[in-house]
Amino acid sequence: MLKGKHILLGITGSIAAYKAAGLVRLLVKEGAEVRVVMTAAAKQFITPLTMATLSRNPILVEFFDPENGQWNSHVSLGLWADLYLIAPASANTLSKMAHGIADNLLLTTYLSAKCPVMAAPAMDLDMYAHPATQESLRILRERGVRIIEAASGELASGLEGKGRMEEPEKILSVVRAFLQSRPQTLAGRRAVVTSGPTREAIDPVRFISNHSSGKMASAIADELSGRGAQVTVISGPAAVYPSSPGVEVRKVVSAAEMYEATVAEYDRGCDITVLCAAVADFTPASPSETKIKKDGSVMTLELRPTRDIAAAIGDRRRSGGVIAGFALETDNARDNALSKLRRKNMDMIVLNSMEDKGAGFGVDTNKVTIFRRDGSSRDIPLESKAEVAVSIVDNIEDLLGGQKGC
Ligand code: PMT
Repeated sequence: MLKGKHILLGITGSIAAYKAAGLVRLLVKEGAEVRVVMTAAAKQFITPLTMATLSRNPILVEFFDPENGQWNSHVSLGLWADLYLIAPASANTLSKMAHGIADNLLLTTYLSAKCPVMAAPAMDLDMYAHPATQESLRILRERGVRIIEAASGELASGLEGKGRMEEPEKILSVVRAFLQSRPQTLAGRRAVVTSGPTREAIDPVRFISNHSSGKMASAIADELSGRGAQVTVISGPAAVYPSSPGVEVRKVVSAAEMYEATVAEYDRGCDITVLCAAVADFTPASPSETKIKKDGSVMTLELRPTRDIAAAIGDRRRSGGVIAGFALETDNARDNALSKLRRKNMDMIVLNSMEDKGAGFGVDTNKVTIFRRDGSSRDIPLESKAEVAVSIVDNIEDLLGGQKGC
């Protein structure tokens, strides 16, 4: 499955380093060529001899070999690799990666790598939950590093919680899905995806927003990009951004900014438009230029409606493309979704309900129904947002190809 793929495995100082041995065996068994770079701390947990034997390549730790002076070029390592997988990635290494610290070969290779990078964190639960670690993960995600989330369970400290490095089999399946060459069925197509929440200023320090994380839209953008489309994401201030290096992300803050950016992108010529953002429907009519002071009395905020991006795109629709919207409902879900589909002149709408556990805002899973203009519909059971994105993009492809029915 991974025949001919070059995988550079970075191992850092963590008790989970022992799992890297199993991971290398699995990667080699799949046909990948594996080279291993270790930090000095990693050598305390697993020996270079073990890793060299399993990977069938010498291990790289130092910038040069003290015996013969041979230089280990971090630049050529990064160019050689199809994927740089850092597993386990300790809190220390993640933090250094996020801040551009380059005090070992693993880190200099990261800073000069031209290939996609994945990291599988491993640490104690409190370290994982610490705002510093979470901030490092956020920064890295934003810069395109794919984070293979830590799992929950018993930790080396004896405590229970989130921080265990994912099992080698799971990491292998993520790597496989990422590296397998996929049919480029959307090559030559341009797509725009709106993502995340918007923020509507009340005054310079306060805003109205919602709980959208950007996870659903990012999964769709990654799926479109994986099939060869040229994807632009117009994102409000989200927690998650697409991880495919090919996806262009344009950041906006307010519904008005998202409107301008999305309509301009559509007018440049898009084959696929996915309106997944949770755009504010109302914005303060006259935001204060200075911080509003409390004086003990009740405050009334006047709100005016924002411009509807989906409706504007529907009004300008050109033939040949696909416009897909979302509906997030709390009641009368089906009727409301179908009404939005017609009113906003879309080709399909993806309904997710706040009533369904594990669906909608923030979570990694979603449960949706896809409705098409021709009246057909399909229920997608609770699945990861990545899997839901596959069904959504399958439907988009079908519609582009002119086929009828979900
Ligand atoms: O980001 P996550 O945490 O992963 O959560 C995903 C999600 C729940 C945000 C996503 O799956 C979703 O449902 N997005 C749409 C949420 C929403 O605003 O739904 P709506 O029913 O209010 O809007 C209907 C459609 O009109 C949507 O396509 C929306 O993007 C669009 N719209 C709404 C208002 C507006 N001013 N402009 C718009 O384009």
